[in-house]
Parts: sequence; structure tokens; C-alpha cells
Amino acid sequence: MEIVILNGSKQIGKLAADAIEELLRHKPDAVLGLATGSSPLPVYDELAARHDRDGLDFSRAHGFALDEYVGLSAGHPESYREVIRREFTDRVNIAPENVHGPDGTAADIPAACQAYEESIAAAGGIDLQLLGVGTAGHIGFNEPGSSFASRTRIKSLIEQTRRDNARFFNSLAEVPHHVLTQGLGTIMEARHVILVATGAQKAQAVREFVEGPVAAICPASVLQFHPHATVLLDEAAASALK
Ligand code: F6R
Repeated sequence: MEIVILNGSKQIGKLAADAIEELLRHKPDAVLGLATGSSPLPVYDELAARHDRDGLDFSRAHGFALDEYVGLSAGHPESYREVIRREFTDRVNIAPENVHGPDGTAADIPAACQAYEESIAAAGGIDLQLLGVGTAGHIGFNEPGSSFASRTRIKSLIEQTRRDNARFFNSLAEVPHHVLTQGLGTIMEARHVILVATGAQKAQAVREFVEGPVAAICPASVLQFHPHATVLLDEAAASALK
């Protein structure tokens, strides 16, 4: 795991965008794994700026969302399909039909999860997966105790995650209890992962997954075994590292 401590979100956005730009230069049809939440926003802002300013081209790229709430209607503003569209894909020239997410409205959830795994495999696997980390150490929505071998499946959110995400909804009661998420096994197959963490509220989780034991209680710690994992931190998120 490569740990890079940077001076603020703008620098983090630039470094992650550099990696994505480099990837697209060598592989214009690259497959990007897309996280939601606050952490990746500086990356999406920088990619949108480079698209506008320099013509960074996503026309042959593919995108796969990391996760999705169960039960939010397709057009719900906080469904991750909508968030990714609003925060990233509508701001660049990626083809809408090349952007995929697990179907949190499916009647047959296990079949939808299996189909999602198959669509990732059919695209050739994920070249670069963006990640954030939850305050309890989740990546995707693989909450503490998730199997390192897990694939895309339904998970229950722990209360800490629901509280953390309540800021995106009108009230805690509106935050769904269930999600579909790529598994830790799925994430570990991405050829490069870039995890972004900013702010003091992430310092404890960062310390545990970077310096603690590799253990299911801290799902992000599995990244210690990834052959190409880059962790981009601001000083506050890095403040508990030894
Ligand atoms: C989002 C996701 C989550 C978030 C994590 C951090 O697609 O999978 O793991 O990355 O909860 O969220 P933020 O960035 O909002 O602090």
C-alpha cells in the first residue's frame, strides 16, 4: 500500500486525476470503478475540469458503481446511479450506456448481483477503482465482519453508517437499511485501487486499516494485500498514523 499525505482535497483530486488521465492515455476504453459519497468529489471535479479545459476524453471509457441503496426509486436524487450521473458522468463525455450500477430496485436481488458481477467481468474487469472509507472501516458498503472473499451482494448498513450518511437525506429515518455492494473479493480484483480519505473523522479508520492487523472487523485492511493500492490522505485523515 502506498500512502500519500497531501495538502488538502484539491491536491488529492489532482493526483487521482493524474492516474486516471494516464490510464486513459494508454487505454482509452479503460474501466473505471466509481465511488460515491464526499471523498471522491474532488477527483470528479478535477476530471470534469480537465475534460472541459484539455479535452480529456472518456468517450470509450466504462464506469461501474461500487454500490447502491436498495429500495430508492431509479430517479431518487440520492440513489447512487443519480449521484454518479450528477457528480461525474454528466460532466464528461462518457457514454451513458457505458455506465453501470447494481440494480437496487430489482425484484430478484441475488440475480441482479450475479448479473452485475458478470457485467464487470464482460467489460474485462476494473482497471482503476476509486474508494472512500467509512468511519468504521468499510469500503464499498462492506461493513465490519464482511468476508474477504465476498462478491456483489445485499448488505445491511450498520447504524454508524446510516448516521454518517443521514446528511444526504432529510432525516435518519429516510436512510435505507440495505444496500447492494461490490464485495471485498470484487474490489480486490481491480488492477489499481485509489482510496481517498479526508478529515479528522477518518483518522481512526485510516490508522486501523493502514497500521492495524488485516482483519474482517476492519474491511479496508484487506487492501494491505492488494498489489497496487494507493491511499491519498489529507493531514487530518493521516493524523493518527504513527
Ligand atoms: C460510497 C461508498 C462508501 C463511502 C464511505 C465514505 O460509494 O462505497 O464506502 O466511500 O462511506 O463516505 P464519504 O466519502 O461520504 O465520507
